[in-house]
Amino acid sequence: MNRVRTALAGCGKVGQIHALALAALAESEFVAVCDVDFQRAESFATRHGVRPYNDVTRMLEESDVQALLVATPHPLHVEPALEAAEAGVHVLVEKPLAASLKDCDVMLAAARRHGTKLGVISQRRWYEPVRRMKAAIDAGKIGRPVLGSFIMYSWRDPSYYLSDPWRGRWDTEGGGVLVNQAPHMLDLLQWLMDDDVAEVGGYWANLNHPSVEVEDSAVAALRFRNGGLGSIVASLAQKPGIYTKVHIHGSTGASVGVETDRGATFIAGMSAISEPPLNDLWTIPGEEDRLVPFQAEDRARFQVLDAVTHYHALQIQDFLQAVIEDRPPLVTGNDGRRVVALFQAIYQSSLEGKSIKLPTSS
Ligand SMILES: NC(=O)c1ccc[n+]([C@@H]2O[C@H](COP(=O)([O-])OP(=O)(O)OC[C@H]3O[C@@H](n4cnc5c(N)ncnc54)[C@H](O)[C@@H]3O)[C@@H](O)[C@H]2O)c1
Repeated sequence: MNRVRTALAGCGKVGQIHALALAALAESEFVAVCDVDFQRAESFATRHGVRPYNDVTRMLEESDVQALLVATPHPLHVEPALEAAEAGVHVLVEKPLAASLKDCDVMLAAARRHGTKLGVISQRRWYEPVRRMKAAIDAGKIGRPVLGSFIMYSWRDPSYYLSDPWRGRWDTEGGGVLVNQAPHMLDLLQWLMDDDVAEVGGYWANLNHPSVEVEDSAVAALRFRNGGLGSIVASLAQKPGIYTKVHIHGSTGASVGVETDRGATFIAGMSAISEPPLNDLWTIPGEEDRLVPFQAEDRARFQVLDAVTHYHALQIQDFLQAVIEDRPPLVTGNDGRRVVALFQAIYQSSLEGKSIKLPTSS
């Protein structure tokens, strides 16, 4: 097999990015789209010459789908993912894998039972400055990663929460910044530290978005399994948004870092990525002068590609190649679960006023 019959569930904002990738990638034979709002499915279907559905079950039955991309709101990831696995279809789910650990475990168990692949979107893993950090860490250039942090000083306007009825509410979104924006960084931090978080103490609050229920800000202190430490500041309460950075410090004292987002994190279908992701820290002995050429390279690349679609396409391509080659995708369902476990533990820590040990069960 060198092409996979693909379909999409959820023809909303990020769904546009998925559809463009499925239509363009050589590994994809894009056959169908589904949305509970049939008009949305029809409009995607017309644009891409595929079949529209308003029901995932029927789409899977009739369109001989081999891989399904799920881009529905967070608490609604589990149902299409489960149906697909039960039909023997591989599934790549938008972040976060689910809004609860329980849903993650349902999805993981179904994939195991039916021998299907489960992946979760974390497209910033494909950013070149992030890959550079990962390569340097894997090559032992900072020794052992022992301290990691991310800071997200971002902004969401009150109108963002009104753009869809599911946003900003515990029951339909599952949470706020921790569930929606921070999963990218919660994944990068654990991937770059090459370790899982073993214990977390955190707090969350709604600092300046009184019109929504969920938190716009959270902080946490982390202890990793191998003894490393970490910290998290995730906020949507800075107007204008400032930056999002991930920094990793090694046992040799050397550090590497990335500014993944300048200003506010982009909103799929609503805003563009206005500045390139760049390495902002590189103190590996003998490589200190590489920061300037790294940044020049990344700025030049940013001029010739569409960063909003490009990195999603790279991850979707990796997933389809994983299906073709029968190997795990770069970002697995288990990676998605550990992100959900971490944000759930921060909520629990804040609620119970004590640190929480991981892994937790659902
Ligand atoms: N990776 C990223 O950078 C990124 C960016 C934006 C959104 N996302 C994620 O993508 C998901 C969707 O976000 P969005 O902004 O596109 O939301 P959206 O509201 O614009 O789109 C969701 C779509 O799903 C449809 N839908 C709901 N239930 C469905 C079902 N059971 N079957 C089929 N369709 C259904 C809705 O009608 C809607 O069209 C969320 O999980 C979000 O976190 C990821």
